[in-house]
Amino acid sequence: MKLVVALLLLLLQVSGSADGRCFCQVTGDLEDCACDVETIDGFNNDKLFPKLQTLLESDYFRFYKVNLNKPCPFWTVSSHCGLRDCAVKPCSPVSSSSPYSAEANEQLVECEQAKHLGAVDVSLSKETREALLNWSKHDDESERFCVVDDEQSPDSQYVDLLLNPERFTGYRGPEAWQIWNSIYEENCFKPYTVRRPLIPNSFHSSSGSEGKTFYSWLEGQCVEKRAFYRLISGLHSSINIHLSARYLLDDSWFQKKWGHNVSEFRQRFDSELTAGEGPKRLRNLYFLYLIELRALAKALPFFQQPSFRLYTGRPEEDQKHKELLLHILQLARSFPLHFDETSLFAGDEKEAAKLKEDVRLAFLNISRIMDCVGCFKCRLWGKLQTQGLGTSLKILFSERQIEALPASSDQRPSFQLSRQEIVSLLNAFGRISTSIRELKNFRALLAEDQ
Ligand SMILES: *[C@@H]1O[C@H](CO)[C@@H](O)[C@H](O)[C@H]1NC(C)=O
Ligand SMILES: *[C@@H]1O[C@H](CO)[C@@H](O)[C@H](O)[C@H]1NC(C)=O
Ligand SMILES: *[C@@H]1O[C@H](CO)[C@@H](O)[C@H](O)[C@H]1NC(C)=O
Repeated sequence: MKLVVALLLLLLQVSGSADGRCFCQVTGDLEDCACDVETIDGFNNDKLFPKLQTLLESDYFRFYKVNLNKPCPFWTVSSHCGLRDCAVKPCSPVSSSSPYSAEANEQLVECEQAKHLGAVDVSLSKETREALLNWSKHDDESERFCVVDDEQSPDSQYVDLLLNPERFTGYRGPEAWQIWNSIYEENCFKPYTVRRPLIPNSFHSSSGSEGKTFYSWLEGQCVEKRAFYRLISGLHSSINIHLSARYLLDDSWFQKKWGHNVSEFRQRFDSELTAGEGPKRLRNLYFLYLIELRALAKALPFFQQPSFRLYTGRPEEDQKHKELLLHILQLARSFPLHFDETSLFAGDEKEAAKLKEDVRLAFLNISRIMDCVGCFKCRLWGKLQTQGLGTSLKILFSERQIEALPASSDQRPSFQLSRQEIVSLLNAFGRISTSIRELKNFRALLAEDQ
């Protein structure tokens, strides 16, 4: 009897701890799909994540072409890391010297040390630059699902993603809220009259009744719109996990130290501190993971085509990386509990087509909002991740075209992905995969905290 009581007490303690509060509701089945969180954790952390990391370090995947200078089409962007003041210029290409010279190194260090944590380092060596020019000649053009920057535009530039990790930038407050607010309020099919739970700033006055109204509204939506909302929320969670996991912990003149900030994580995901929202946000992250995983699995036939190359001009390496990519996609395909996208857009044909178009347009608009993000590094990762998710959706809804891909290269292919889309697809998934892996770290840190 005593033992039972002790056990019960222990259980109570555990579920009352911060660890329990962040994660207790993030177990078991996910709504709208036949999958559970534990299976995803095991699959991602032990199998997929390490291989994906290796792939993303290859030259093909680390250079992403992006136009960070597109004007915001919706409002005037004025932020602390505004367009002109952002330290992009000092980091611009080291043209006269080799990238490994002392001068270049110094410049890089200076860039790192500059207070502009949100600045994007665009330095690339001359050789890389020339090679990249060659790559784009081997690119496939295609019809696009979401806004893709004009690759020919002189404003588009290659960015080395390894030099610009996604992490804490100090970009927060009203400007960052405006971005998320316009996404949730104006682009997620939600009427203004239904208030989102826990809007920043209004937390202390929130009574919790908004949550109820909001979720009963969401439950009343068709599965497509619900899925759309959950994808956006999952993306939001992933970004917040990254900035909590790579927080600027120490910022002194002699060192910068990045690492896990448990209190930041709890403020965003602890059930108690977020009026129950945190665990829901984390579940949406898993949902997003499943959608992108499904897209990767479906895209396998495209990447298997003999004519497809991860072209960087070094045939041996290109072949090696293609094999690794195929291995990863096959792994994705082997995952037993895939999201079943046939339940999406499955109703009355005319209605389904209209719904699909609505979703496509909303997504398109969100990818344009990314040009309004004031902080360059956040804009870079925001654009990459929306483009990656857009590419995932394009794949999921092109099943017939992918299956009809011709066996020989003489025929015009029915489905294509550009280099930009491929790079964003894999890197966006890499972010989500990293977030899932980081949750394991936070679980351990929170348990330690007790
Ligand atoms: C670009 O490609 C051409 C021919 O395909 C080759 O001669 C040249 O060396 C390549 N340049 C670089 C920098 O890889
Ligand atoms: C696109 O997003 C902006 C900013 O949130 C919004 O004002 C606009 O109404 C949206 N446009 C469409 C077509 O949804
Ligand atoms: C962690 O984040 C909180 C805000 O959530 C901040 O107040 C605190 O200073 C951070 N801790 C460190 C060590 O930077």
